[in-house]
Amino acid sequence: MHEMRRFEPPAELAAHANVTADVYAEADADRLAFWEKAAERLSWDTKWDRVLDWDNAPFAQWFVGGKINAAYNCVDRHVEAGNGDKVAYHWVGEPENDTRDITYAELKDLVCQAANALTGLGVKAGDRVAIYMPMIPETVVAMLACARIGAPHTVVFGGFSSTALRDRIQDCDARVVITSDGGYRRGAPAALKPAVDEAVAQCPDVRSVLVVQRTGQDVEWDDSRDVWWDDAVGTASTEHTPEAFDSEHPLYVMYTSGTTGKPKGILHTTGGYLVGTSYTHWSVFDLKPETDIFWTAADIGWVTGHSYIVYGPLANGTTSVMYEGTPDTPHKGRWWEIIQQHKVTILYCAPTAIRTFMKWGSDIPDEFDLSTLRLLGSVGEPINPEAYIWYRETIGGGRCPVMDTWWQTETGQLMISPLPGITAGKPGSAMKALPGIGALVVDDEGNAVQPGSGGYLVLTEPWPAMLRTLWGDDERYQDTYWSRFQGLYFAGDGAKLDEDGDIWLLGRVDDVMNVSGHRLSTTEIESALVSHPKVAEAAVVGANDPDTGQAVNAFVILRESALKDGEKADDALIQELRNHVSKEIGPIAKPKSILVVPELPKTRSGKIMRRLLRDVAEKRDVGDVTTLADSTIMDQIKQGLATGKDDD
Ligand code: WT7
Repeated sequence: MHEMRRFEPPAELAAHANVTADVYAEADADRLAFWEKAAERLSWDTKWDRVLDWDNAPFAQWFVGGKINAAYNCVDRHVEAGNGDKVAYHWVGEPENDTRDITYAELKDLVCQAANALTGLGVKAGDRVAIYMPMIPETVVAMLACARIGAPHTVVFGGFSSTALRDRIQDCDARVVITSDGGYRRGAPAALKPAVDEAVAQCPDVRSVLVVQRTGQDVEWDDSRDVWWDDAVGTASTEHTPEAFDSEHPLYVMYTSGTTGKPKGILHTTGGYLVGTSYTHWSVFDLKPETDIFWTAADIGWVTGHSYIVYGPLANGTTSVMYEGTPDTPHKGRWWEIIQQHKVTILYCAPTAIRTFMKWGSDIPDEFDLSTLRLLGSVGEPINPEAYIWYRETIGGGRCPVMDTWWQTETGQLMISPLPGITAGKPGSAMKALPGIGALVVDDEGNAVQPGSGGYLVLTEPWPAMLRTLWGDDERYQDTYWSRFQGLYFAGDGAKLDEDGDIWLLGRVDDVMNVSGHRLSTTEIESALVSHPKVAEAAVVGANDPDTGQAVNAFVILRESALKDGEKADDALIQELRNHVSKEIGPIAKPKSILVVPELPKTRSGKIMRRLLRDVAEKRDVGDVTTLADSTIMDQIKQGLATGKDDD
């Protein structure tokens, strides 16, 4: 373990940083005036008459009465300002030398064409469009085309299964799906269209599927429904007049795991979201649009990609790198090669990636020129001090400060983070709430804890990019986030304050796991397991894992009929169950281990005591078992590990 270290903000950076230390006092003095100033960085068709309407809390409206077009702000206005030749994306395909540079002028033409094509397919403002794509430029084009015509998009991560895709299409009642034949992953083309075909077979209201050709693999074709992107978009006009939409017009729905089996559709709206993402992108990454090359190494299918590959960077006129594939294809130095080649100045990624690179060894990045880097970011899970220091030293050459950014799909924008040139860095701490953001650590009663103590992270003030509700479920929105503590947003994270009052995130306090920065619900995986005919009951816990942060550990009770007399639960059965979860949710949800047990530990009221199972999974002595209905169960579980039915 490293003793607690503290890195002072580099003076060099402080002298030229976009924001200065007085920004906190400025925001404290008048929070709404502060966000109003941030909103003025964008181009509005009609100015707002009120910054915030919180009268109907927790339902917020930001920049009330304002009208704005998100795509115009991300693309057209940069072209109009004379920056049409500037590169918006250095796109890097996974196969080597498969690259494409897209300027703002080209992006504008593509977005206009796609907007015209979608209109041609009958998409109107307010209609939902599902996007199930690999990491290719057309994904960004599709999102912006939707935004341009006011059709909220719902991007479904390409690693999700057809079942997960179907559920999301149905939940938000999308009428059009945009996909591709597939994308490159680990050196080979992976298919996407078959999953769409499977999903859409159960979505009778989907009338068109727009298909980008990326890999050239064979696809099944339904003439009544499927349209090639090149035929529809490629032939459309590059002229399109953007319509200004109400600031609160829905921009997108992003599904994320909650504590129940049913994913939550997080709704983000237009004006406030664009203000929150563009301001934080500019301030936290000290973004200089003239000179920086910015790379968020995440998938667009997650909120990190929405906010910091697409909307934030484009609104700021940034040149970004976008990479299609995995970090080890065709070799383990791929990321560093990309940084060297494109002279990346800012890298933003997840601790799980950093830990993987650490494991592969410093020799690999050491072979590349990373001297253009000036700032590093981390997101998605707590960064352990070892990984922080390795990232800072080995990747950042000791000169790049690390911004450990805490936020969520729900918050839309960065919330807790150091500011470059202003805040010191402490490995493992996200430090403090950004200007204009109110965060506290509270105890069970909702009272703020003192420095040196722990509790729950809450947000005390509404913020521009906050979720507005859960799609179609206002009640669940109120219950999930605003009922635990009166008047406070409950984030679901445990946190502690150190003696200086800086915030350390400690992980989820609910039934949500964080595996490689991906958010998974224990209940959702349990439901998937129980849907298998051989499983009677299942309990899932996220156990600490040195590589992935947490790992999915499942405990299952088999049905009587699952095994014949004397037969054991063997590896083939475990594999079958793991694959079943993968098919139901997606490969990311596949349990790392599945133990067949005779019983599950339950309280007298029948609630599964996951805490005890976590002890087992993390190979600790099992803690307090006095609240168990049957206190012998833990012994049975430990004896019966993976041995199946004959221990009954
Ligand atoms: C959860 C949100 C925000 C984009 C990626 C994840 C955890 C996120 C940090 C951080 C500690 C973090 C929290 C949060 N988390 N960033 N810097 N330090 N934990 O978005 O899938 O909505 O997950 O990720 O537990 O609640 P998400």
